[in-house]
This record gives sequence, structure tokens and C-alpha cells, in this order.
Amino acid sequence: MFDKPFSQACENNKQPIFEVLTRVLTNSQRLLEIGSGTGQHAAFFAPQLPYLQWHTSDMPDKHLGIKAWLKGVRADNLHQPLSLTIDAKHSHSLPLANFDAVYSANTTHIMQPAEAQRMMQLVAESLPTGGVFCQYGPFNIDGQYTSASNKAFDQHLKAQNCGGIRDIEELVQWASPLTLIEKIVMPANNFLLVWKK
Ligand SMILES: C[S@@+](CC[C@H](N)C(=O)[O-])C[C@H]1O[C@@H](n2cnc3c(N)ncnc32)[C@H](O)[C@@H]1O
Repeated sequence: MFDKPFSQACENNKQPIFEVLTRVLTNSQRLLEIGSGTGQHAAFFAPQLPYLQWHTSDMPDKHLGIKAWLKGVRADNLHQPLSLTIDAKHSHSLPLANFDAVYSANTTHIMQPAEAQRMMQLVAESLPTGGVFCQYGPFNIDGQYTSASNKAFDQHLKAQNCGGIRDIEELVQWASPLTLIEKIVMPANNFLLVWKK
């Protein structure tokens, strides 16, 4: 039997993140989630945002877990995972048309810097004017860690060949023409960045 993957961090952060999403996504209709991971966020958010079509996505090895989480949820607006690997070496587009919102949590520090840059560019070029991008995770400010635990986390990430914690200013450069309209301090030394095109 396949065991559903579980992230304790998702259990801890889903309610604070939801409180922001329910405020900033009121006018959105079709959302692409990049790097859905276990699928726990989508399974929690989508039933509470029934006006919003929530499309999960991730690299194929995550799909079984996402599908297992989605199976337990009754929500017509929650959609099966799309295959998406952000690839900085080959040109590709996002696997969904006509979306007006994007959500991505804890992805830029896992991706290589060039992949994180490509994700920001793809989101920026694919969203329509007025589109919203909600991005959650640990970020640095002006080249500085926001806590000692984030510094230790970054060292751990790099030891595992992940790209590491990105600086918000770097994301601002990469995300042009998106504008960073909110930088919300979240529990556990994280931020929720709200971008608008
Ligand atoms: C730390 S997990 C976060 C999962 C979930 N969003 C959460 O907050 O728990 C990072 C996710 O990013 C995905 N990811 C990493 N590199 C990626 C890439 N190049 N393209 C697309 N997804 C990627 C991984 O498969 C993984 O699901």
C-alpha cells in the first residue's frame, strides 16, 4: 500500500498562509500551484476557496503523493497534478493556459538559482495584467539571513546540493515586470510575498 507523504511544516503553516490567500486571491479564478510537494496545501486551501480552480503541479515523482492527498478531498475545483519541471537549460512554458494566479511554497531554496530565476521569469511572462503570484518561504533581505536558524538551514540545503535561500532583491530583479506589493512576515522566519502584474 502507498503511504501518503506527510509534511509537518505544511500542517504548521497552512492556516497562516490560508489567511493571506483568502484575502489576496478574492478576484482570481484559475490558479497554478508550482511545486505542490505532498499536495497537503492544495488539499487544505482549495475546498475553502471554491470559486478558484486550483491546479496542482510538480515533477512527476511527486504525483503519486499529490494524487493520494487529492483523493481524500471533495472539491470540484481541485485538479490533478500537471507535470512541471522548471528547467533553466531548455526553453519551455508553464503547463496551463489562461491562469490568473500562481502559488508556490518553499521552492526557490530547493531549486538551483538558475531554475529559481527561470520560474520567476516564466510566472512574470505568463500571468495576465492584474494577475497575482503568492510565494511563501524563507528569504534573505539585503544579503542577510533573517535568523540564525535560516543560516543553519541554508548551510544544510547547500550541503544537499539545493540552491539555497534566495534574496528578495534578487527575486525582484528576476520577476520584472511583476511588482512586489506585499512582503508579509510569517511564523518560523518565513515570508509570504505577494506579486502583481
Ligand atoms: C520543499 S518542497 C515544497 C513542497 C510544498 N510546496 C510545501 O510547501 O511543502 C519543494 C518542491 O519543489 C519541487 N521542485 C524542486 N525543483 C523543481 C523544479 N526544477 N521544477 C519544479 N518543481 C521543483 C520539488 O519537487 C518539491 O515538491
